[in-house]
Formats: sequence, structure tokens, C-alpha cells
Amino acid sequence: MDLHIYKSNKNKNISGTVKVSGAKNSAVAIIPACLLTDEQVILENIPDITDVRNLIKIITDMGHFISFENNILSFKRNSKAKYHFKDSINKLRGSYYLIGSYLGYRKKIFFHQCGGCNIGSRPINYHQNGFKLLNVKIKETKKGTLYQAKKLLGNLIKLDFPSVGATINIMLASVLAKGNTIIENAAIEPEVTDVANFLIKMGAYITGVGTNRLVISGTNKLHGTRYRIISDRIEAATYLALGCINDNQPVTITNIDPTLLTSFIDTLKAIGHIVTINNNSITALKGKTLSPVAIKTAIYPGFSTDLGPIITPLLTQIEGTSTLTETIFERRFNHIGDLNKMGADITISENTIIINGNTPLTGSKVTCQDLRGGASLLIAAIIAKNHTIIRNADIIKRGYEKPIAKLKNLNIVASIN
Ligand code: EPU
Repeated sequence: MDLHIYKSNKNKNISGTVKVSGAKNSAVAIIPACLLTDEQVILENIPDITDVRNLIKIITDMGHFISFENNILSFKRNSKAKYHFKDSINKLRGSYYLIGSYLGYRKKIFFHQCGGCNIGSRPINYHQNGFKLLNVKIKETKKGTLYQAKKLLGNLIKLDFPSVGATINIMLASVLAKGNTIIENAAIEPEVTDVANFLIKMGAYITGVGTNRLVISGTNKLHGTRYRIISDRIEAATYLALGCINDNQPVTITNIDPTLLTSFIDTLKAIGHIVTINNNSITALKGKTLSPVAIKTAIYPGFSTDLGPIITPLLTQIEGTSTLTETIFERRFNHIGDLNKMGADITISENTIIINGNTPLTGSKVTCQDLRGGASLLIAAIIAKNHTIIRNADIIKRGYEKPIAKLKNLNIVASIN
């Protein structure tokens, strides 16, 4: 599919309010976590994005019951469902949370390669090492991997790196294990905390939530609950960035906890943009005097790797040289060639990009290669003064709910076909 950002935006007033949707990376973990109880679970604020739709299809194809309407998802486990996952698994990264959930629920799962953005090698060895320490036997076959445990036994698990996925997956597998599991060097991203809070609402015993040492005391049974997931800090930042494009054209985002975006907001302010924070909303306005910055991505609460591509188009508009150093993934610069095609002056030096700013951007035909790279091209296209066509734009819909309607709220004319 192609996403068109039209020339007619040239004289438009890019300002308004956007309501942020629920967090993709919470949703893709919390939906599989519903498998840990045989009672009904209701989830609120679930984003209607392709990753969620694909995950629902995988789980319902297994035989479980899910209804999803108006961002509310209802989940009921089916004890007769299969444990053998085959199709669609490779459509999203988060499908790997089915491993931890199924281990907790049935002590067994047969799983194929999971998918996700092409932003690096993305192995799951930390997940697997953690499962092994919980007494899981892992058998690789030509068709996939069988994970199986006679009994899940709690253990001390020290992660080599505070991996978001490994922390969540080990938590999912350990809440119904026998004894205590301690995860040291755990990730503290807000989505990890969201999953822990959800599991606690289902009756799990977890302490140290929000710290890098999680203690999970296994229990026999979890119960149904109603839970509202947090909002998406990356989607929030994407729309906030649009408020920093034109003079006197602020953008406000609502339905967001501003504390989730502290490092992004601090960076916008360091550039010279004006950011106003309220209880549940944030407004960004382009500053009068802007300065280049040097950014280094980091684990939470540092500057998120997902936000590097989001801020890059803004840096192309600032006089002087900015740098962005990526420290989490190997291939996070897929979109840079296309930004240069649009007129940016960016060079890649190992894991750093050097942005020589104050370059006008011109609409072009570009191609979306990964989710956040696609969002980067979208922001660049809105800055550009003529028609841009973004190919492979379906990738953007993996993580952004109703992007065309939300852009329309900001007077930005776009279409996908
Ligand atoms: N890593 C390993 N082995 C593992 C797990 C991770 O070597 O077993 C490495 C990764 O290759 C990477 C680093 O550790 O270099 C960090 O990976 P992490 O596990 O923290 O990331 P993830 O769980 O694969 C999630 C999000 C990403 C987000 C990162 C970092 C989901 C589904 N994905 O990925 O989100 O960038 O955490 O915060 O939660 C996105 O939304 O566009 C996205 C890519």
C-alpha cells in the first residue's frame, strides 16, 4: 500500500489535538498473558493496529475466544485449544509472548520463528536461557521449537542485558511456577511495568515492579480481571513531533501519562522547542531559536531507541550539526537513504548518524522498511513542501491506529491506497 502526503498541506495550519491510543508493546504482551487464567479477562485501551489484529487471529485460530470492538478486548481461554502454533506467528515480534504464556498455562508449546521489524539480528537467547532455568526443555526441530516442562520451577535468572522481551516472557512463565523466581538486571520499560501490574491484578505475586530486580512468587491459579493498558509513548512522541514543524502551530496529545516521555520532552526542550505538560496531555510548539543536539539512545528512562527515527526529521530542520547514536539495535538506519533522497544531509558512521541541518525537504517516492523508520518518513513528508508517496505503508499500520484520521485532526491531508 502507498501512503500519500499531499502538496496541499503546504499552506495548511498543522495544529490540533490527537488522542493517543493504547501501547502496542503492552498490548502484544498482555493479550497472550490472558491465557494464564481460565476466567474471562476484559482489556481496555487496546489499540486497533495490525499487530494486535494479527495476534488475535493467531490466538483465535488456536481455538481461544476473543472479541474486540471499540478498543475493548474480551478474552476467554478454551481448555480444548491447541498448543501447536504454525501460521502468522512471523507477522509480529510480540507473538513470542505466547511462549511464556503457554509455558505458564500448559507447560508446553510448539513455536515457529517470530517476526518483527528488520532492525537487527534480534535473537531470543535471553528468553530461552531464562526458560531453561525455570526447568523448561527446549528442542529445536526443522519445523520449529518445542518448549516443554514437566513442572516449572522458580530460579534466580540474571539477564545479560535488560531485555524488554526476555523480562516479560520470563515473568509470564514464572507466575504459575513453583517457588520464587528472581529476575536480576530486568528491563524497567513502562510496558514491562504494565504487564507486571496486569499480572498482579490477576492475582500474581510480584514485587520490585519498576525496578531492575523482580521477585515473582509462584501461585497455583490466576483469576479474571478488567484492566486498562497504558497509552503508547512512541505514538505520542510521533504526533508531538508534528507540533515542532511550523511556527505558531502547536500540537496537543491527550490520553498520555507525560512522565513516560520525560527524556523525549527534555530533548525537545534542549533543542529549543516549547513543551507544556498537563495531567494527561502534552503540547509541543516550535521554538524561536533552535540548537542542534547530540542524542544517544538508551534503555528506559533514557532516550528510547524507537524515538531515534522520530526525532531525526526534526533535526534536519535545525541549523548546525546534530548526532544520533543508536546503542540498542544494529540496523536502525534503514530510512536514512530515503531521508537523504528527500533532501536531508545525513551520513552514517558506524552506529551514529550525523545530521547537517537546515536542509529543505522535497517530496519523493520513498519506501517504508520498518515501523519507526516509516514514521520517520511520514514526519519528513509532512515537513516537505510537495507530494510524497511512501511505499509499503502497511508497516506503519502495524503500530499506529487510524493514522489518516489522526493526521486529519491536525489538518494534514493524507491517504492510503
Ligand atoms: N537481545 C538479545 N537476546 C535476547 C533478547 C534481546 O541479544 O534474547 C538484544 C536485542 O537484539 C537488542 C537488545 O537485546 O539488541 C534489546 O532487545 P529487547 O529484548 O529489549 O527488545 P525487544 O523485546 O525485541 C522491545 C520492543 C521494541 C523496542 C525494544 C527496546 C516489543 C514487541 N518490541 O523489543 O519495539 O524497540 O523493546 O525498547 O515490545 C517498536 O515498537 O517499533 C519496537 C521495535
